[in-house]
Amino acid sequence: MSHAHSAPVLTIDGPSGSGKGTVSARVAGQLGWRLLDSGALYRAVGYAAGMAGLDLSDVDAMARCAEATRIQFRAGAAEGTTRVIVNGHDATDELRTETAGAAASAIAAMAPVRDALVALQLGFRKAPGLVADGRDMGTVIFPDAAFKVFLTASASERAKRRYKQLKEKGLSVTLAGLQREIEARDNRDASRAVAPLKPAADAVIVDTTGMGIDDVVAKVLAVVHPLPAA
Ligand code: C5P
Repeated sequence: MSHAHSAPVLTIDGPSGSGKGTVSARVAGQLGWRLLDSGALYRAVGYAAGMAGLDLSDVDAMARCAEATRIQFRAGAAEGTTRVIVNGHDATDELRTETAGAAASAIAAMAPVRDALVALQLGFRKAPGLVADGRDMGTVIFPDAAFKVFLTASASERAKRRYKQLKEKGLSVTLAGLQREIEARDNRDASRAVAPLKPAADAVIVDTTGMGIDDVVAKVLAVVHPLPAA
């Protein structure tokens, strides 16, 4: 199917703590484009499954859960924030924990779960454009995207960023524990058979180690609007 006439897409993939979430939200705001936080979908399904007392290793049950879970994004009270509503309940805070991340990563390795979320993700592609944040945005969901970025950073820097984020949210975590959990999750995401975490062949790779957020945002925006050569 040709997407020649559909809205432009910028995909931003990468491991956890690479700055994807913050950068994607800022870039979408600057471009005036919609934002798809695809990780929130996997987190929401894992959360719904937990609430229903389902066995997270049961592929059929997880696929049914992915099909049945109602996920809505709403603007939060503070400017630029988003609330995630799962089956009518505001689950934003519960979804941020590393436990929710690990549950998301476990069920995200199941092909029928991923299949159940494809149509929902494609539906985010609307004018004037879409910034899609995830692991397989440029490789599987929007392979025809005009703009693709893969954000990385060293494992220790990624753990430090997540630590700061979670601490600011008042969660009790240790840096060493977090680094272990993040590495385990990234290894699973990168080594799984379906839609593994990897840069699309045509993605611009940005290593954000040691870079400030403003510089990363500027680099990503330059992929969409290249500056004329001096
Ligand atoms: O990006 P976030 O940390 O919220 O993602 C949580 C988990 O969801 C990831 O570790 C990954 O296993 C899964 N995920 C995925 N594909 C995506 C987005 C997230 O498999 N496009």
